[in-house]
Amino acid sequence: MLSTETGTLFLHPDRNLALELVRATEAAAIRAVPFIGKGDKLGADGAAVDAMRKFLGTVDFEGTVVIGEGEKDQAPMLFNGERVGTGRGPACDIAVDPIDGTSLTAAGRQNALSMIAVSDRGTMLDASSVFYMNKIVTGAEGHGVIDIRKPIGENIRAFAKAKGKPVDEIVVAVLDRPRHAQLIEDIRATGAGTRLMLDGDVAGGINAALYGTRIDICAGIGGSPEGVATACAIKALGGVIQTVLHPKDDDERGRGQDAGLLFDHVYDADTLVRSDNTFFVATGVTDGGLVQGVKRLGPIIRTESIVLRSHSGTIRRVTADHQAEKWLGE
Ligand code: FBP
Repeated sequence: MLSTETGTLFLHPDRNLALELVRATEAAAIRAVPFIGKGDKLGADGAAVDAMRKFLGTVDFEGTVVIGEGEKDQAPMLFNGERVGTGRGPACDIAVDPIDGTSLTAAGRQNALSMIAVSDRGTMLDASSVFYMNKIVTGAEGHGVIDIRKPIGENIRAFAKAKGKPVDEIVVAVLDRPRHAQLIEDIRATGAGTRLMLDGDVAGGINAALYGTRIDICAGIGGSPEGVATACAIKALGGVIQTVLHPKDDDERGRGQDAGLLFDHVYDADTLVRSDNTFFVATGVTDGGLVQGVKRLGPIIRTESIVLRSHSGTIRRVTADHQAEKWLGE
């Protein structure tokens, strides 16, 4: 029941940057559509990058890409260190993945999305020197319960108790990779079920933290940049994320050490992103458990997005109908 007392957000409403950024993920998703199922990962990514960059250029903020398409010499656009936005407005770190799931897009599979995460300038962990991290993500019930250093079985049992759910009803999302064979076995040994994902552990993590989804926990080794982006979303959702860097070899460990990264250390939401002011937006490219993909409905192109903001904790689902002729030059 709404009371008549006035909350602080109502007294002091402020700008939600994510509501502007969502245009950039919508544009990237729309531009990726002609590449769905065409086997051209680079083409899909290039079209999405180009569209995202154009739309970011209209947003009043001073963004620095901390997690982007790679180093400047390999990525002509949205490279790490690139300045985006109009240069007017708040100074921010920005993580972009114009398509999380380029292989899914190229193959015509489900669960590809376009995403942007933002936090205050200088607050995102730059984990780019170490490709993978081990992650565990849950909803708010996991606070004080989940510990990534403990065996997955212990975590599942403790989390099930905290959530008030029988263990055999717990569903754990895991990237379907040979490196996860033991993890999958250990999950199933508790009686819990797995939801194996072909790609896209950002959506898996968000689905674990959102209420009313079929996923309770997202666990396993995935991209470090995706971990930092997920943390921005988790801050808005009030869930739990814990990660430990997982270097491929001694060279990578050395590069990470040189960059000041800590190994055998648990990075949580507050150390992955050292700011309580985060935004996260994602638009579906192909249909998925988090957001539906781009649909063509006669003269309309419909997009579906999720828009999160930590300051208010608002979760918005934005469905937009775009005029196809204005997008595709028909
Ligand atoms: P991209 O589509 O951006 O390449 O990422 C897809 C993805 O599945 C991420 O969601 C995940 O974190 C990472 O790749 C896992 O890496 P790998 O495919 O090497 O296991």
